[in-house]
Amino acid sequence: MDGITTGRIRCYPDGRGNLFVAESGKDVPFDVKRVYYISGVTDRDTTRGSHAHKKLKQMMFCVGGVCDVIFDNGLSRETVRLDAPDKYVLVGPGIWREMTNFDSTATLMVLASDLYDECDYIRNYDDYLNYLKGALE
Ligand code: TYD
Repeated sequence: MDGITTGRIRCYPDGRGNLFVAESGKDVPFDVKRVYYISGVTDRDTTRGSHAHKKLKQMMFCVGGVCDVIFDNGLSRETVRLDAPDKYVLVGPGIWREMTNFDSTATLMVLASDLYDECDYIRNYDDYLNYLKGALE
């Protein structure tokens, strides 16, 4: 789907464990202004997200455990399973996303191109479809 890209970051494994690295300008195609993460989702039916951003770019990792991210561009849906700590999905602006199927050990970490700004959110799906329509006109 246009607007999302999956990939893997570098890992340096040795006898002490695994070290994963993502650098702005090399692995992350924006300057990282914010990091947040979600953990402790104990109910597998929980859905988080359910919003789109007008400008924000994000890079999502499940650094522990597993979760699914469902993307929607108003025309089609695509599910990305984040099930390894080096696996990422890059999300551009204007994509609806829902995070679900968290296992109890999942930690979903997000690198973001900007500070938290509620004005950048579209939290209602009908508003999102209208936003897309407006963007095309
Ligand atoms: P929310 O947007 O509901 O999380 P999710 O996308 O996972 O469904 O955010 C939960 C709360 O956290 C809400 O009160 C806003 C706050 N919040 C911040 O203050 N800063 C942030 O960077 C983020 C992502 C959320």
